[in-house]
Amino acid sequence: MTRDTLAFARAFLTATRTTGAIAPSSAALSRALTQHIRPGGPDQPRAVLEVGPGTGAVTRHIARLLGPHDPLDLVESSPEFVTRLRTALHRDPALTPVAPRTRLWPGLVEEQELGECAYDTIVCGLPFANFAPEAVTAVFARLLTALRPGGTLSFFSYAGGRALRSADPRRAAARRAVREAIAPHLLEERLVLSNLPPARVHHLGAPATVGAPSAAGSLTR
Ligand SMILES: C[S@@+](CC[C@H](N)C(=O)[O-])C[C@H]1O[C@@H](n2cnc3c(N)ncnc32)[C@H](O)[C@@H]1O
Repeated sequence: MTRDTLAFARAFLTATRTTGAIAPSSAALSRALTQHIRPGGPDQPRAVLEVGPGTGAVTRHIARLLGPHDPLDLVESSPEFVTRLRTALHRDPALTPVAPRTRLWPGLVEEQELGECAYDTIVCGLPFANFAPEAVTAVFARLLTALRPGGTLSFFSYAGGRALRSADPRRAAARRAVREAIAPHLLEERLVLSNLPPARVHHLGAPATVGAPSAAGSLTR
């Protein structure tokens, strides 16, 4: 077990609701979440935002896919994970190449000024099932506003939690809020079995691109 996995399990025990997972995302889930990232060129850098990077499992995949001029912003609410990420950006060879172009913002994404049309790709690891429905709606509105036309927002939910959700009305309400928020923007959904627990990845298109012919018909399960 790696130090990151241990730190994650510890955070899950002490801050279950905000951590939302017992283990960092697997390589398979990280690949699925980052499948829309394309490197930009020197004249047209492509900006990426990751929300809830945790210990950086998905961040390392993002780093590999960025072009040499592409900026990366990270927003993480856990002070412990922020410290780990800061250290990793200085020391981990998977992250040091992007460190000069990376801004790490501690705190809640709800309180972060993301701007409008600022990002080509957003990858979000937030545990929406543990959020209040109004918070779900507000966060999706902020993230979709921050996407450039043609951009994508990718996030995941854990698969197979239907029994758990129906036993817990708050989780059921959060799930409904997620479905309502994403329905007009959904490009594709994909099940990733190789993760603890298995997860469903959802890819959304920026509001301006929704309804484009390429988006229709690409829904896979
Ligand atoms: C399910 S973990 C995902 C971690 C990582 N992306 C991964 O896949 O391994 C959720 C992460 O979101 C962070 N988080 C939860 N609520 C947040 C919020 N409102 N704003 C920013 N980060 C948040 C948690 O601290 C945690 O690191």
